[in-house]
Parts: sequence; structure tokens; C-alpha cells
Amino acid sequence: MPGNTHKSRTSNKMMTLFVCFLAALAGLLFGLDIGVIAGALPFIAKDFNVTSHQQEWIVSSMMFGAAIGAIGSGWMSSRLGRKKSLMAGAILFVIGSLWSAMAPNPEMLIAARVVLGLAVGVASYTAPLYLSEIAPEKIRGSMISLYQLMITIGILGAYLSDTAFSYTGNWRWMLGIITIPAILLLVGVCFLPNSPRWLAAKGHFRDAQRVLDRLRDTSEQAKRELDEIRESLKIKQTGWSLFRENSNFRRAVYLGVLLQVMQQFTGMNVIMYYAPKIFEIAGFSNTTEQMWGTVIVGLVNVLATFIAIGLVDRWGRKPTLTLGFLVMAVGMGILGTMLHIGIESPGAQYFAVAMLLMFIIGFAMSAGPLIWVLCSEIQPLKGRDFGITVSTTTNWIANMIVGATFLTMLNTLGNANTFWVYAGLNILFIILTVMLIPETKNISLEHIERNLMSGKKLRDIGSQE
Ligand code: BGC
Repeated sequence: MPGNTHKSRTSNKMMTLFVCFLAALAGLLFGLDIGVIAGALPFIAKDFNVTSHQQEWIVSSMMFGAAIGAIGSGWMSSRLGRKKSLMAGAILFVIGSLWSAMAPNPEMLIAARVVLGLAVGVASYTAPLYLSEIAPEKIRGSMISLYQLMITIGILGAYLSDTAFSYTGNWRWMLGIITIPAILLLVGVCFLPNSPRWLAAKGHFRDAQRVLDRLRDTSEQAKRELDEIRESLKIKQTGWSLFRENSNFRRAVYLGVLLQVMQQFTGMNVIMYYAPKIFEIAGFSNTTEQMWGTVIVGLVNVLATFIAIGLVDRWGRKPTLTLGFLVMAVGMGILGTMLHIGIESPGAQYFAVAMLLMFIIGFAMSAGPLIWVLCSEIQPLKGRDFGITVSTTTNWIANMIVGATFLTMLNTLGNANTFWVYAGLNILFIILTVMLIPETKNISLEHIERNLMSGKKLRDIGSQE
């Protein structure tokens, strides 16, 4: 009956939307947990009377947990499935949010943030994987950018709620409020279907078919997709042994590591975690100004992510990345110079803020989303799970190093030198991008794989010949 078909088609669309919305909620939580510490830290520091070193650990304990979570979730999501992994992640989100809000001392807070980190690590690995396996082919490409957008919206959400609570100075509410979206995720995940690809990989073809029937418009489409999955499953994942035996695959893994190191050592998270502190250094002594400044940073980060979404497939990865690193180098370089000279007048203060925002735009339009896109494109199918686990884990380890060293760098090198170091690193990344990074625009993943495995130079693995 045509009426029925129409109805079921609409409900299938709703189902797909619901599924994507929930997986994206995991991205939002990722962002909330990254962002929340910026506004909470000054109040935590006052309340617990902690040293700079302890503050660095309060910040970076989460990244430590996330690195472990990312390593573990490769195993967990293939053993237990994507749905159960997401559920475990959501439970950890709830426990970590509540525990960190109630922590009686800095040590407990650090432990609670390790648990939160485990949740973020699981989410950062499993949610994009689940999204890419469940989204219809047409929209699969934009999913990674959407995920990054959700991260930035999460960061902004955290900054806004931090600002709202800053008037009472209650950091426990800042951390505790995240329990609400965490519970939402937990409840929602219970209604998610298993990933059809995972079901098929476990030999449950009939269940996979049933899920696809609920998600796709027609049963022919569902059947075609199941056939494709069946076909691609013939390629066995041989991560570690492939890594040991095949030097071409090793190059892709190292490139993934390099890309993530580059993303983190731009210094973006220095600003994400310590924005109020940076506003203080730039001469904004009032907490309200620092908090609203931080909100503007978060907003610009969201808006500039749209530039990347528009540019990736038009300009390509390499020019966008090169321009992004250049903008970041200039922003950090001028900030360093201003800190060296001294920021005295209000005009100078606002110019410093403009430079900070320019840096944020540079990151959000390039390295933010593009590094994740590239990391998912360069791995050959056989070693994809392994390659992405390694690069995601690298992201968190590098993230931890940046978070754990910023205040020490300020104390030992001084403000200006710290910003100059990051400016210098961004210049180095321009050179590395030109020399090593491939352009993968408009080229099929199979083609990239063929080029890589035939021994082409890394920067040429995206070429058409
Ligand atoms: C990075 C995070 C960063 C965020 C900022 C992500 O791509 O991996 O470390 O905090 O972008 O928007």
C-alpha cells in the first residue's frame, strides 16, 4: 500500500535521524568535558588552594583517561559491539560527572577526571565509528565534520554554563550539570540498534538485515548494503601483524601519529583549557570579563568550523591546512610579541583578543576537523581499526602533554616565550604539511590505498596517476 510505504519511509528517516542525533550527542559530551574545566579551574584553584602543577594535573588527568579509553575501545567495540561500548561510555560519563562534582579534595577530583576521560576516550573512538557505519552513504562524508561541529558546540555550551555559574563561583555545579546530557545519552543509547556492520562481522546476518530494513528507505537498498558489507568483510583486519610486516602500512600509521601531534601542538587546547587565565595575562583582571571572553572564544570556534565544512571539498585539505597553520602562527606570534612589549592600554588589550580569536579561526577552519578527516582517509582498509586506534590515542597523549605543561612553560619560559614556542611550531607544521601531507580531495579511498601500498611518497598518495 502506497500510504503504508510512505509512512514506513518517514519512520525510517526519523530512526536514522534519531540514531545520528544520539551519536552526535556523544560528540557534544566530548566537547562539554573539554570545555568545562576552563571556567571551573580558577574557582577550583581558589577553593582547594592548589599549585600550578596540581592544576595542570586536574586539567590533564582527563586526557590521560581518554588515551586509555581510546586504546581500550578498539578492543571493546569489536568484542562487545558499538552499542554496548557507547553504553559503557555513557555510564562512565554519568559516574565521572557526578563524582567530579562531589570530589572532596584535589586527588579525588583528579581520579574522577580520569573516569570522565575514559568516557571521552570511548566516545571519541566509538561514536564516529558507529556514525560512519549507520549513516546512509550520501551523508557519510559530512558526518565527521558534523561530529567536530558537535564537539565545538559542546565546548561553547560548557563555557556558557561556566559563565552562568561563575556569578556564584560554584564550580561543583559547573561540573555536575553535565550529568544531565550524560543521562540523556545513556537512556537514548538503550534504544539504539546495533551497528549492522558489527552484527554482520559477528555472523548475525539476519539481525543486520533487520536493522538495515529499519534504517533504509527500501528493502532493496538494505539488501544492497548488506551485500556490500558482506563483500568488505572478506578483508580481514590484520592491524598489528600488518604493522610489523608491511613498511608501507607503517608509513600510514606514522603519518596518522604525525597529523594528530601537529593538531595538538598548534596550542589550540592551551586556549581551550586556560582561556580565562590567558585573558588575565592579557590584562583583563575582572572574572566576568574573563568568562565572557571565553564564551566568545567558544562561539568563534563553532562559527569558524563552518568555514572548514565549506572549504574541505572545494579547496582541498592541503591548502586549507597550510593557510590554517599560517593564520595560527601569525596569531600566536603577535600575541607573544605583545606580551613581550607589555599590554597596557585598552586598545592593546582588545587587539590581543583579536589575535587570540584569529588563532581560533585558524584552527577551527583547518586542523580541527581536517586532521580527523585525513586520519580516517589514509589508512588501508585492512589496517583501518589499528591505524585509527593509534592516531586517536596519539591525539589524547599529545593533548595531555600540552595541557600538563602550559602553566609550567609560563612559569619557566615566561609568557612571551611560551606563545613564541607555539608560533614556531605552527611554522614548522606549514613546512611539514607541504613536504609530507597528501591531498586527498576527490579521490577514492581505494585509490589512496593502492598508491600507499605501491610505495608512493606520502605526499603523493592522493594523486590520480
Ligand atoms: C581536537 C580537540 C580540540 C577541539 C577544539 C578537536 O578537533 O581534537 O583537542 O579541543 O578540536 O575545537
